Amino acid sequence: MRKKIVAGNWKMNTTVAEGVELAKAVAAASSQVPSQVGLVVAPPFTHLVSVAEALKGSKVELSAQNCADKEKGAYTGEVAVNMLTSAGCQWTILGHSERRQYYGETDEKLVEKTKLALAAGLGVILCVGENLDEREAGKHFDVVTAQIKNVLYNFTEADMAKVVVAYEPVWAIGTGKTATAEQAEEIHACIRKVLADKFGAKVADDTTILYGGSCKPSNAKELFAQPDIDGGLIGGAALKADDFIQIALSF
Ligand code: PGA
Repeated sequence: MRKKIVAGNWKMNTTVAEGVELAKAVAAASSQVPSQVGLVVAPPFTHLVSVAEALKGSKVELSAQNCADKEKGAYTGEVAVNMLTSAGCQWTILGHSERRQYYGETDEKLVEKTKLALAAGLGVILCVGENLDEREAGKHFDVVTAQIKNVLYNFTEADMAKVVVAYEPVWAIGTGKTATAEQAEEIHACIRKVLADKFGAKVADDTTILYGGSCKPSNAKELFAQPDIDGGLIGGAALKADDFIQIALSF
């Protein structure tokens, strides 16, 4: 059975002190969440060491929001995978649409980043998703299929055990607009099929596929009830411990 996961992407929000307080509140409430549901938080880089400390003894795992596409050296402003593991991370998010849109993240770079992250023992939450123009042009299946193929087809079945896919329609991120459960489910099912074509049905069945884009306590239940939706990557609603935990209780 694939794992259910609710992951919080804090993006560029909170000071270190606020982040530690939020992490402590999530950690304290996490015992309410059933053992088959994994919890992950992804604070900014500056918070990782302190948040790791705040999460100690709880089931909540720690993720970065990005990593460098180089191992080490003269890359000013970048953060390498061994820095993330040494800060206490078990995961990194990669390919978030905000990184693709504002920072020129390409599928080619994501292959390099994914290689480094997996080699360092990090789990990868790989984000894919179409923008509004692509959806309106009816290209959403093609866009997401290409993103999955361009990145994940460079990896092995064994690698896939450490990969989670997050489907995040760009038009639903931070906009209050959520994909309907049907819209999300049909893309999730398509992603699973694209994975099955390369890695076989077993790997595809075992891969956790999250939905992201204005997921909140009021809509999580309906989304998570879909057969191919295995949890959520939560932005805005992850900044309130109560909402985040409420979402994790929505299976
Ligand atoms: P949102 O963000 O929940 O605020 O829409 C989701 C994400 O971008 O991961």
